[in-house]
Amino acid sequence: MKIDPNKVPKHTLYTGVQIPAVGLGTFGSDKYGPDAIAQAVDGAVRAGYRLIDCASVYQNEDRIGETLSRLMQEGVVSREELFVTSKVWNDCHREVEASCQKSLKDLQLSYLDLYFVHWPFPNYHAPGCDGDSRMADSKPFSVEEFMDTWRQCEKLVDAGLVKQIGMSNMTVAKLKAVLPLCRIRPAALEMELHPAFQQPELFDYAVEQGIQPIGYCPIGSPSRPERDRTEEDVAATEMPVVREIAERHGIHPALVCLKWAAQRGQIPIPFSVKEPQYVSNLACVTEDPLTDEEMEAIRLADCNCRLIKGQVFLWPGAESWHDLWDEDGTIVG
Ligand SMILES: NC(=O)c1ccc[n+]([C@@H]2O[C@H](COP(=O)([O-])OP(=O)(O)OC[C@H]3O[C@@H](n4cnc5c(N)ncnc54)[C@H](OP(=O)(O)O)[C@@H]3O)[C@@H](O)[C@H]2O)c1
Repeated sequence: MKIDPNKVPKHTLYTGVQIPAVGLGTFGSDKYGPDAIAQAVDGAVRAGYRLIDCASVYQNEDRIGETLSRLMQEGVVSREELFVTSKVWNDCHREVEASCQKSLKDLQLSYLDLYFVHWPFPNYHAPGCDGDSRMADSKPFSVEEFMDTWRQCEKLVDAGLVKQIGMSNMTVAKLKAVLPLCRIRPAALEMELHPAFQQPELFDYAVEQGIQPIGYCPIGSPSRPERDRTEEDVAATEMPVVREIAERHGIHPALVCLKWAAQRGQIPIPFSVKEPQYVSNLACVTEDPLTDEEMEAIRLADCNCRLIKGQVFLWPGAESWHDLWDEDGTIVG
């Protein structure tokens, strides 16, 4: 099945550039390898996806690059029609250009549409490492360190290597500290967003500041790695309100999560390597919208349940993962 990309709603970033209202995630959660993901990118672009959310730490940009290059050679899509993101990982905050160049080389592109600082901490941990592993030299958030990284991102825009820059895994307190210092402001903020974790304050603050929210784990990341699971976690697709609405519309609860996301105004970037899933994830925002009452019922069901707690980023002396998220409105550390 093919969805006409022109029928997929778009958002306009403050730069005037348009971005599709749904994208494809490419993090395999240690469960799906580069082959499966490259194949999904191929199928997804053929099905009508134009936004692909990549990152160097997902360790599959080279395979995605081969796929994109082939799709462009075959004339399935042009570079201008695609919106490709990537992210600088925490061990490269001092060498952002080198990291960006590596992503460009792997993705076989001459520019990225959007380049994120993946996490605001410079604390490295290896891909796939255990949730309890910590780097001895881990540090709390520092405005100076972050702005040094951001200045390097701004230079990427000047050099034409990236069209827009963005931040990810930020808090209102951190944004308030760094936004006044930006020469080039972030065009987008990637953040965890699903019906069980709606982050209303951060969402509203980003929108107020003209920053487009992009929602990761939009379905509640049912295949996330073991290290990101706790007993208290609420599954978005199991929430009674989501299930009731799904039943009423005759659709899978995952699609209720995506319709809710798109109608609220964030850009969901669902991951799937399964064709029926990724096709319906895109198609669902072009048809049968949720009613205002359904949107409100989901809003009221928020349970503030963060799934990606980020505990591997903790520094010596930090008490728990809550310290990463400035929950009382001030920067911890
Ligand atoms: N910036 C960041 O720090 C950050 C952090 C996390 C993620 N991300 C990005 O966000 C993307 C999405 O997050 P995510 O992959 O963790 O979670 P997700 O998109 O919420 O969940 C993906 C899983 O949902 C299931 N699914 C997808 N479509 C479905 C459908 N139509 N019906 C039923 N089940 C469906 C699949 O499960 P099965 O595998 O069981 O089929 C799939 O593996 C990532 O791939 C990545 O690009 C960014």
